[in-house]
Amino acid sequence: ISHFVHYHTPSECLTLPRQPLPFCSLPGPVDYPGIGSILNILWNGGLKNQHEIMFKYHKKFGKIFKMNLGFFKSVQIGDPTMLETFLRKESIYPKRMEIKPWKMYRDYREEACGLLILDGQEWFKMRRATQTKLMKPKEVFQMDMKINEVMADFITYIDNKCDETGSVADLYAELNKLSYETICYVLYNERSGLLQQTCKEEAFLFIKSVKEMMYYLGPLIVTSAELHKKFNSRQWQNHTKAWDNIFLTVKHCIDKSLEQSSTGKRNDLLSVICSDNLLTKKQLYGIFAELQIGGVETTANSLLWIMLHLSRNKDVQQHLLQEIQSKCPSNQAPTASMLQSMPYLKSCIKESMRLTPTVPFTSRTLEEDTNFGGYLIPQGTIAMINFHAMTWNDEFFPDAREYKPERWMKDKHSINPFAHTPFGIGKRMCIGRRLAELQLQLALCWLVQNFQIDSSDKEPVKAIVSGLMIPTRKLPVSLKKR
Ligand code: HEM
Repeated sequence: ISHFVHYHTPSECLTLPRQPLPFCSLPGPVDYPGIGSILNILWNGGLKNQHEIMFKYHKKFGKIFKMNLGFFKSVQIGDPTMLETFLRKESIYPKRMEIKPWKMYRDYREEACGLLILDGQEWFKMRRATQTKLMKPKEVFQMDMKINEVMADFITYIDNKCDETGSVADLYAELNKLSYETICYVLYNERSGLLQQTCKEEAFLFIKSVKEMMYYLGPLIVTSAELHKKFNSRQWQNHTKAWDNIFLTVKHCIDKSLEQSSTGKRNDLLSVICSDNLLTKKQLYGIFAELQIGGVETTANSLLWIMLHLSRNKDVQQHLLQEIQSKCPSNQAPTASMLQSMPYLKSCIKESMRLTPTVPFTSRTLEEDTNFGGYLIPQGTIAMINFHAMTWNDEFFPDAREYKPERWMKDKHSINPFAHTPFGIGKRMCIGRRLAELQLQLALCWLVQNFQIDSSDKEPVKAIVSGLMIPTRKLPVSLKKR
């Protein structure tokens, strides 16, 4: 056994035809009775620092290690080869770790679950109902004009928000408005007026509530949501209130949109899904609440990080501007088909998502005993797939901590595709991926065409986990109209 442990890396072990080692022999941090490794996390900066902690642990224990997170046992994976093995063994209905507080809220208020929470056949039915419209490139490309309409308003809006130095008081909040406006237009054919003076209060309420719900989620997961609910803790109350407001807003959007769509043919996602008559109204509320959340936080967050990297890499920005100008005449709006001939633009986005992934990890619940990296991982274990442990690893990305979009152009054949999967993998991959990519690509075209993105200081911008990876301070970027 000691020979095996010392002389083979876990990924080599995948190919070795020998008996797997028991789970208990996996390396990992100290596991205290009852609380597992929670204290280690607290000592190292808490849950908000979990991406850094996992990165450090992968360095210490290797590409696979075990960790008891209080209420569940996990195996942590930071290796593309293992991820590929994972995908090959994927079942018909892959399962992510249950997000208990979300599920408990649904049961408490008798609301339906959406794709993020459901499992098994129910998940499959919902996924099928939404997938055709959201995952087919041809269908998604048709949304480009709607996105452009919002972007045209956003350019004027954000220009007005800049002070004399080009700085925007809260750029993240403004990008949230942009993504809310876009996702609601795509989902319901509804403009909420967030970029005009006529904004509806509920739009603000939704954005604020999503952030609050994400903030309370982490602590509720690792410290028993059941106990929080039982004692009606402040965290449980705030989490519940945030979800109440999310559902209130979503129901209003859906009811209004359905009322309007009964008067004519429309092409928004809600109308398309309703035309199949596969889902009840309650199910629609459940599924659209999650689509709306997915659409608002993630794309705004990704765009924010992209702007930071461009502000600090002037050559990259110049190169990008040239590509955009050569493919998209300045008096025209970019289209989905123009984007097909903009590989550098796509590389800039990919590289930003590698260096500062919006979602730092995903998970799968093992449905049977599985041989991973030479260890037998028992059924029911949660496998955490740590994206940043792979994307920050110099072994897979030389000079991993540097922003180098070129690597996706010239070195792309030498990059293991499983080393960078910001939208997840397999059948449960992000359903909004194509829409998000189109949104980010069009938004970047518009922004770079219209503004020079400057950096207002060179101090590091640290990221913390609050559901997503968010910056710890106001982003030091400013915008100068071209
Ligand atoms: C799932 C990332 C945008 C809706 C996921 C997952 C990731 C992710 C990592 C988990 C996948 C897995 O477990 O393999 C992102 C990023 C986005 C983004 C980085 C933007 C840059 C969106 C948008 C929507 C959305 C725009 C809605 C239109 C969802 C849903 C799921 C999901 C519903 C659950 C899918 C399922 O389990 O079937 N996303 N996402 N996401 N995302 Fe996104």
